[in-house]
Amino acid sequence: MRIASAALILGLSLGGAALAAAMTVKDEMKTVVDPATNTIFAVGGEVDPANGPDAAKVPAARWAEALAAAQKLKGAAAHLTGPQKQPGEEWTKSAADFAKLAADAETAAAKKDGAGFSSAANGLGDTCTACHSKYKTQS
Ligand code: HEC
Repeated sequence: MRIASAALILGLSLGGAALAAAMTVKDEMKTVVDPATNTIFAVGGEVDPANGPDAAKVPAARWAEALAAAQKLKGAAAHLTGPQKQPGEEWTKSAADFAKLAADAETAAAKKDGAGFSSAANGLGDTCTACHSKYKTQS
């Protein structure tokens, strides 16, 4: 019985991974990238040393949210540079920048480095525009 239920759980989690990898760019942008980016932009403002000494008082729980959001973006970046990759230089460059800045945000959040995190957050915003201006239908 134990073995059977372990196999069932494994089967379900592999199914979940396959589903995530097959997610369309649109769905991943809407359900993963957009909410994670909102968190990153908000925390980026809170921890920016330019916003004054209160930035240093950002609670550990907020940093943990920032770290989780950066890790979500890193996952999305792996899809954009992998299975979801589209042809063209702008895609390659903006997806690579997105991947690098998501990793920078993760490192900074793990170290509670306000200057590093806010700088990664600012840079991330530019990668959205760079890719969307060519690949996303403007509505
Ligand atoms: C390498 C390319 C690329 C990067 C980088 C990128 N996006 Fe996108 N994004 C797309 C494409 C392509 C679409 C359009 C998908 C479609 O409509 O099929 C899209 C669509 C979206 C949408 C609309 C989803 C919907 O409901 O239709 C949102 C929101 C979004 N992106 C947020 C972001 C944010 C925020 C960032 C930066 C942090 C970002 N994206 C970075 C390629 C990218």
